[in-house]
Amino acid sequence: MPFRVLALESSCDEFAGAVIEDGIEVLASVVASQAGIHARYGGVVPEVAGREHLRNLAPVMQATLESAGMDWDDLDAIAVTQGPGLGGSLLVGVNAAKTAAWARGLPLIPVHHIAGHLYANWLRPARDDWDDSPPPFPLVALVVSGGHTELFWMQDHERVERVGQTLDDAAGEAFDKVGRLLGLPFPGGPEIERAAAQASAQAINALDPLPRAWLPGTHDFSFSGLKTAVLNRVRKLEAAGEPLDVPAMAARFQESVTDVLARKTARAADELGAACVIVAGGVAANGALREALNERCAEIGLPVRVPPPRLCTDNAAMIGAAACYRRSEAGLDFDVFSTSGPAVFSPGL
Ligand code: KG4
Ligand code: ZN
Repeated sequence: MPFRVLALESSCDEFAGAVIEDGIEVLASVVASQAGIHARYGGVVPEVAGREHLRNLAPVMQATLESAGMDWDDLDAIAVTQGPGLGGSLLVGVNAAKTAAWARGLPLIPVHHIAGHLYANWLRPARDDWDDSPPPFPLVALVVSGGHTELFWMQDHERVERVGQTLDDAAGEAFDKVGRLLGLPFPGGPEIERAAAQASAQAINALDPLPRAWLPGTHDFSFSGLKTAVLNRVRKLEAAGEPLDVPAMAARFQESVTDVLARKTARAADELGAACVIVAGGVAANGALREALNERCAEIGLPVRVPPPRLCTDNAAMIGAAACYRRSEAGLDFDVFSTSGPAVFSPGL
């Protein structure tokens, strides 16, 4: 019998629903993004995000079931992001999931948002050349999102250990902050990638490379110095009355971030003896990061798996996948956890 989960994700500014079968098949995936609403504030406004979720939850749940061609009776469980994320945003999804689970008598599976990002790599459309084999263990997983930059050592579904993390800004946060410094719209990540693609090699070479924090001897990361370096360059140009070449600066910034992420991930995988590297989170949608990782991992003969961009940024399909591999039911009295939640997802989450 197939195991079908209706999954909900509402940790930040997307309210998403999905139906996942056996942790592999995406029968439906619907995402209501609020990016356009928050763009005018230059960042996500938590209060606004929660209120928008309330408006979106019923239409998204209905559209998800319709898109899967299913009724509530076809479902075996409900999964929902428990955290980490914005408290008010999480509450909307968690309470919707609890209500549906109670009303339909279905088991409820709370999922750690980061576990969700990782399990996007187990979904069938995760790769164009999908060969039906799941990522081989043991593996090193790089999570790069708006709130997290972490390296995990996964020996199997139960044994997951964090081996590295950012000491300050997350990679996505750095993209967003630098995007703002360069006068680009929010979210900065995709805008920086687009701008960088317009820079000529000549224009890039005209700018000195930006710094890279290697933090030798650790698998940790740091991006705040890089952000400050961009700020100082922008200020210096302003003071001198010289024009800022936004595409070239975006390219230099993107090159620094992706170079550090790719080299340090490959080194960790090599040292730990991984069979493959998987990547997850919004920044994994970045083409330059994919290229850099492919290059560095090819040097040590390791395959790299990255989900397609739509499964890298927040979605509910990944939450449904994680729920299937990490099935741990909860009653209805669990709470959300915001940023103070457990940083390493325990097998139960
Ligand atoms: O995983 P995600 O959708 O939400 C969180 O859990 O945080 O990640 C959002 C982050 C944002 O910082 C956004 O700027 C970044 O992912 N991002 C990108 C790209 N697409 C999204 N960063 C670089 N290049 C991209 N193409
Ligand atoms: Zn996320």
